[in-house]
Amino acid sequence: MSASTHPQESLRDHHALVTGAGSGIGLATARELASRGARITIHDIDRGSAERSAKQLEELFGVDTCAVVGDVCKEREVSHAFARSAKVLGPITILVNNAGIMPPKVDVAHRIPVADFDRMLAVHLRGAFLASREVITNMRRRHFGRIVNVSSVLGLVGLPFRVAYQVAKTGILGLTRTLALENARYGITVNAIAPGYIFTEALRARADKGLISYDLYADRTPVGRWGTPEEVARVVRFLAAPESSFITGAIYAVDGGYTVRGDPGEDIGKREEGYSARAGAKRGARGRGHATAPPTQMRIRKR
Ligand SMILES: NC(=O)c1ccc[n+]([C@@H]2O[C@H](COP(=O)([O-])OP(=O)(O)OC[C@H]3O[C@@H](n4cnc5c(N)ncnc54)[C@H](O)[C@@H]3O)[C@@H](O)[C@H]2O)c1
Repeated sequence: MSASTHPQESLRDHHALVTGAGSGIGLATARELASRGARITIHDIDRGSAERSAKQLEELFGVDTCAVVGDVCKEREVSHAFARSAKVLGPITILVNNAGIMPPKVDVAHRIPVADFDRMLAVHLRGAFLASREVITNMRRRHFGRIVNVSSVLGLVGLPFRVAYQVAKTGILGLTRTLALENARYGITVNAIAPGYIFTEALRARADKGLISYDLYADRTPVGRWGTPEEVARVVRFLAAPESSFITGAIYAVDGGYTVRGDPGEDIGKREEGYSARAGAKRGARGRGHATAPPTQMRIRKR
């Protein structure tokens, strides 16, 4: 636990299991929870990154950790991993359903291979369902539990060409609401976060190779930049805290304003300066035609 931690924010008595915690948002979340003194299980499909991350947290924060490996959509592997985690570190009191994959193909729904669709739903939705099933009985028995599901802004708004991801992330919100209601009388809260564009190592590598444009997504985000994994992790930690006992079934957008921006075609000013009403009016008068431009061709001008 860091020296500056307020005693009320301590997670010393807790054991948090984070799925997909070998990298990215999951690892940042595990780090954030470990910084508050929680025992941490790193669950990931990739053995190397799971073991490396667990070791890193142990060294950084002096907390007990456990690395478990498995595919979050395979029932047996999940059961086995969770049983091992509880045996090593005690009952799981905090579960973060974070494991996820990017769409292998970005295309219109009718051209997406069925296998891609099934896999996307399995990793995100079936995975969160299976993991939650593993912990709820015991959480009910102890009359305490925190489950945080990682959805996406794409669970809240539409964006073409990512049908399976969108359906999976929307489904996670449904799962969150149902589990919240079913378990509200048992001291268990179930909430979801909906991150916007978050600059993880994996996405940095893609940007470095020119596969994605940092600027394009920064411009689509009202605060004018991508978020960091740590900014997401802090919201998860807030929802996972024992003090957040009256928040359940909620969805927290962690998106720099992405989902409240009604019209992504409207120029809202230079990123560095924020909204400029005059510039917006001038551009509007010139008529940018954004209402008819198909989303893929919509380009926000370089400034
Ligand atoms: N990065 C973003 O911009 C962003 C935005 C919104 C939502 N999200 C969501 O946040 C979560 C984390 O994403 P990230 O960007 O950190 O990705 P990431 O690729 O950096 O990390 C995902 C981790 O999940 C693991 N994983 C993948 N499939 C798994 C499986 N079947 N079983 C167990 N582990 C598995 C990977 O090995 C990896 O360590 C995902 O659910 C993602 O959809 C990310």
